[in-house]
Amino acid sequence: MNTEPPAAAPWWASAVVYQIYPRSFQDSDGDGIGDLQGIRQRVDYLAELGVDVVWLSPVYRSPQDDNGYDISDYQDIDPLFGTLDDLDQLTSALHERGIKVVMDLVVNHTSHKHRWFTESRSAKDSPRRDWYWWRPGRDGMEPGAPGGEPTNWGSLFSGPAWEYDEATGEYYLHLFSREQPDLNWENPAVREAIYAMMRWWLDRGIDGFRMDVINFISKNVRADGSLPDGPVVSGPYGDPAQGTINGPRVHEFLQEMQREVFAGHRDAVLLVGETPGTTVEDGLLFSDRRRSELDMVFTFEHVSLDQGPGGKFDRKPLDLLDLKATLGRWQTGLADSGWNALYWDNHDQPRIVSRYGDDGRYRVESATMLATVLHLHRGTPYVYQGEELAMTNAHFTSFDCYRDIESLRYVAQSRELGHLTDDQILASLAEVSRDNARTPVQWDRSANAGFTTGKPWIAVNPNYITINAAAQRAARGSVFQYYRRLIMLRHADPVVQRGDFTMLLPDHPHVYAFSRSLNGTRLLVLGNFSGHDQQADLGQSLGDRTELVIGNYRVPASTFGASINLQPWEALVIREPG
Ligand code: NOJ
Repeated sequence: MNTEPPAAAPWWASAVVYQIYPRSFQDSDGDGIGDLQGIRQRVDYLAELGVDVVWLSPVYRSPQDDNGYDISDYQDIDPLFGTLDDLDQLTSALHERGIKVVMDLVVNHTSHKHRWFTESRSAKDSPRRDWYWWRPGRDGMEPGAPGGEPTNWGSLFSGPAWEYDEATGEYYLHLFSREQPDLNWENPAVREAIYAMMRWWLDRGIDGFRMDVINFISKNVRADGSLPDGPVVSGPYGDPAQGTINGPRVHEFLQEMQREVFAGHRDAVLLVGETPGTTVEDGLLFSDRRRSELDMVFTFEHVSLDQGPGGKFDRKPLDLLDLKATLGRWQTGLADSGWNALYWDNHDQPRIVSRYGDDGRYRVESATMLATVLHLHRGTPYVYQGEELAMTNAHFTSFDCYRDIESLRYVAQSRELGHLTDDQILASLAEVSRDNARTPVQWDRSANAGFTTGKPWIAVNPNYITINAAAQRAARGSVFQYYRRLIMLRHADPVVQRGDFTMLLPDHPHVYAFSRSLNGTRLLVLGNFSGHDQQADLGQSLGDRTELVIGNYRVPASTFGASINLQPWEALVIREPG
């Protein structure tokens, strides 16, 4: 039961966030890479869509090994994207339209080119040595030899999580690529430097942060400074999770960050945490307002259900019952004092219409059904650029189309291990590579979809001729127009913002059904996750005064009796007034 008094609902209960991956959004200078001035040219598009907040993926100075998630200067903009002045202009343009700006911030690690790291690396007695995780090799092993790493951990981007540095004869930790060394949050000087930088951004006028892998910042370090090996589940390396995820001091660090950075700003800013490997119980600790840590969290559970035991690139079909059970648990678990960040897509996930929907015959229906189900949950919905157009996966068929470091490392490791054929590797990349979400936004049917006048850094999806923003802005019944209506509904309807959540028909294999209620008014939400008609037997008649709030078919399913017939990929939201 939601016991929160309505007046106390935070502003983000009625907000929708839009994520921009600047490199692929809009290029303004013809170099084939999107930039800040390009985004500025599109602010009216964002206002027309109606979003309340823009989250900008990283634009800081960076060698771009991981497209900006490897920061070499937190207080400057990479020349690829523009200048600090360009960012200020963009912020003002968005603020003028009532849109807040949230910066993506990566503080679990820096780039190996960050001055902090180059100083740390320079000598064992460097004052910055302890800003990162340096450790000697395993006892009795030749330093630098395979197996000599301080722990058996694998990196999330394939290969070992430790890199041997010949100059000082020690290893440094990198949970991601070797170009992304992990910062040592145990060191108070590191934390102070990060907080000072965050205050600097707030003073500059930005409205919050999306904190990259923020639950990795506390490592499970033993009193003697050693770190624990992880279980070997698949492949040659140990799983670092127990030593690195939701470690013993993570809540302490976040509460300290709140005190040091956000005192006095608490209700104006948005702090959303990316928290892989987080359970509902951890998610509640992070997002419980009374604890003052994060405003909301991104769970990964619902986007890991089509993954086999071999990890991300090991694919299996989604079972809708798992999706309902998972999202239902998060809804219930965070009902009273926590808050969910709701998403299907982002720059790390394949396109949802190609993944849990049907990007062929029922592209429009399945994309709008998925959007309806997501946006009607309790939490703050996130829209990833192009999702509002039902952009599809890239469907690349050759290795040379891929740009993403994670995908390329996966290819290299798989070929080295030799257990998969090239066709098998290509098939899993086509399903799940992050590049699926990173092809340029399809603005119109001109060359390169209106994204650039140059050569795009990654191929434009050839389906831009039919799937593009210009066509959809003009067309009633388009996916874009449907997203606008969902966003307006979130702005206007207190039940959507604050109503309780109840899962219905948990065992129906194809229909996702739930209700939201507030002060006696109930919204019934139904989504058909299949390309066939489905029957939803609700077991009780709906009252006489029901009305259709939103649906994705021009002529909606039959009548709203105790049993509702849903057309392929149909979505319905029905109101029963109190
Ligand atoms: C999560 C980000 O979303 C992803 O794009 C990045 O590669 C890793 N963190 C490392 O920063």
